[in-house]
Amino acid sequence: MRLVAATTEEQKTQRDVLSYSEWGKLLTLEGYVSREQRLRAHPWARANMHTWLLCEEDGAVLASCETFRTDSFLRSQNGALLPGDSFSIASVFTEERLRGHGYATRLMDMLAARLEHEPRAHASLLFSDVGPRIYARSGYRELPAWNWHLSPTPGAPGEHVDLLTREEDLGRALARMRLPDAPFFFWPSPAQLDWHLERGRIYVGHLGCSLPQSLGATTGQSTILWGLVSRTAELTVLMLDARSPEEAQALLGAARREASRSGLSRVLLWEEPAHASLLPLVEGATRAARDGSLPMVRPLRPDLPSSPLLPIPRGLWV
Ligand SMILES: CC(C)(COP(=O)(O)OP(=O)(O)OC[C@H]1O[C@@H](n2cnc3c(N)ncnc32)[C@H](O)[C@@H]1OP(=O)(O)O)[C@@H](O)C(=O)NCCC(=O)NCCS
Repeated sequence: MRLVAATTEEQKTQRDVLSYSEWGKLLTLEGYVSREQRLRAHPWARANMHTWLLCEEDGAVLASCETFRTDSFLRSQNGALLPGDSFSIASVFTEERLRGHGYATRLMDMLAARLEHEPRAHASLLFSDVGPRIYARSGYRELPAWNWHLSPTPGAPGEHVDLLTREEDLGRALARMRLPDAPFFFWPSPAQLDWHLERGRIYVGHLGCSLPQSLGATTGQSTILWGLVSRTAELTVLMLDARSPEEAQALLGAARREASRSGLSRVLLWEEPAHASLLPLVEGATRAARDGSLPMVRPLRPDLPSSPLLPIPRGLWV
């Protein structure tokens, strides 16, 4: 068996056609294939994405997945940050007739061995929809996965916050956010966050809602970024840097009003260690174990510090 990076659009489209039944909900086959092409054409994917094929010697494809390079940082003893590359893995797929022969596991093992040779490699990250067991075999360790939900509330989104964030301010808003105080962490780029928004631009026509007019808000030193990013009509928080319970309340209040204005059914936030203690103080916020999208991390170098407190904001999902 060989691990091969797909080089042609035709190779990628063949995998799209096969995986339509898994991931094409709400879309026709044609719509799904064109969604995949559009997402691959997004600047972030063009620069950072690869499709990987596990092939028989004769070239027949046994399993496939995608990687997206993402920035990550190691913190040295004196606090200095060492930038590196991490790889988020998505769309692990084996055709139904080929399942149960260990092909997906082989793909994950061969891919990790390949990525370990990348010169600045730190870690690989994935979001399992099939539980931790299959990926644990290949060295991935699961992290806590909790969601917070808030209902929409009527009102002007910009009331009670300093500013609503517009599309052209996305990079500036991200740059205001505190980097995690962890020995190792992943950090998204503005283009990476826009890739999520691209998904929303594709889905909005199918959902009976509108695209949120704002992308987030700031109040005091705190910042939130959100969007319509999936086939669920909800306002998803991509990043949250809340410096106090009052500022968390204000920012999430703005999110609730933006959800209402856009016709979305709720606000969704992924819990992170830095804001976990503030969220129980936010009026109307409820916590639930996440169903799917279980973050799992595998070191790609032996000295990578491991911590259950590694933050995984929704903005890192692929
Ligand atoms: C998940 C998937 C990639 C596994 O492919 P595969 O080549 O059969 O994988 P392997 O043979 O290496 O491993 C199979 C293991 O995955 C487990 N698995 C497959 N689907 C599962 C599911 N929905 N929930 C939990 N475990 C699942 C099998 O039970 C099996 O576990 P076992 O060996 O301990 O019994 C394949 O079932 C698939 O393409 N599913 C649809 C797409 C999908 O859900 N991809 C994963 C997204 S995170």
